[in-house]
Amino acid sequence: MLGAVPIKTVPKRILLDCDPGHDDAIAIMLAAASPEIELVGVTTVAGNSLLENTTRNALIVLDMVNRPDIPVHSGRAAPLVRELRTAASMHGDGGLDGPVPNAPTREANSANALGYIENILENEVEPITLVATGPLSNMADVVTELGHLHHKIEQIVFMGGAIELGNWTPAAEFNILVDPEAAEIVMESGLKLTMIGLEVTHQAWLDDSHAQALRGKGECEDFVAELLDHFVGFHQQRFGWPGAPIHDAVTIAHLIDPSLLITIVTNVTVETKSELTLGRTVVDVYGVTDRAPNVTVGTGIDRGRFVTLLMQYLLSLSPN
Ligand code: RIB
Ligand code: CA
Repeated sequence: MLGAVPIKTVPKRILLDCDPGHDDAIAIMLAAASPEIELVGVTTVAGNSLLENTTRNALIVLDMVNRPDIPVHSGRAAPLVRELRTAASMHGDGGLDGPVPNAPTREANSANALGYIENILENEVEPITLVATGPLSNMADVVTELGHLHHKIEQIVFMGGAIELGNWTPAAEFNILVDPEAAEIVMESGLKLTMIGLEVTHQAWLDDSHAQALRGKGECEDFVAELLDHFVGFHQQRFGWPGAPIHDAVTIAHLIDPSLLITIVTNVTVETKSELTLGRTVVDVYGVTDRAPNVTVGTGIDRGRFVTLLMQYLLSLSPN
């Protein structure tokens, strides 16, 4: 019998909306490194830092992985109706403390994020997956302004929310807290949604040993090691954890290998009124409400296989 012929999978085409941000940066690098993913374009949103910083950081990361072909379009500089709050305390004023990279070699593309996404949706032959790893401000615009193109969206996979405790307030995870109104619009959109929340991403941590394994293996790997030096150090000091959760990379890993996650399909709504619990994702785990299921929610992850996959691809970034 002839040797088994490897089945060549068609790469999954995605658009990534992000707010780099250390873990967003690693998500971009994982997507760029993975043959299973075709990163068609990047859009940016204010969140971890100001829009000018998240946009600059996305350009820097794409320079780092030598992908000048991937366009970057900037989106909303603030939440739909609220004042922007950033995570400068975690990611630094520029949003990517740690490495000292060169300035980006190019500017962001001229069209804004929504116009770019509309153009992509109009011209894609098959529905495309949108991945969101920052506040959902740009995704809310896609829902409200591009209803005529929803059939060209395969799904939105977003890092955000939590079944239980938040990470920015006791009730809320950062991405949802920054723009709860946007998150509510996305939850009520009727689009296929996958929520990668804190119950999953808090298991997806890397520590100093992973930074050490990357250091000296190439320019990209050194860059990630320097990101981890800052990000791991922050989480060790602030929370006493062994490492830093690489929240956003889980969205990409999930698309590479959906078997990594345990999920449930249930109703998720967002608190947009209470000051005490603003931004809380209310996940009806036990089906006690009459609210219809609208989101596939991650409840667990195979940590070992996630870390192996992430490290394997990060270590493949620089030519040997
Ligand atoms: O709560 C974690 C999320 O907030 C991640 O996307 C991180 O980058 C920050 O944006
Ligand atoms: Ca992010």
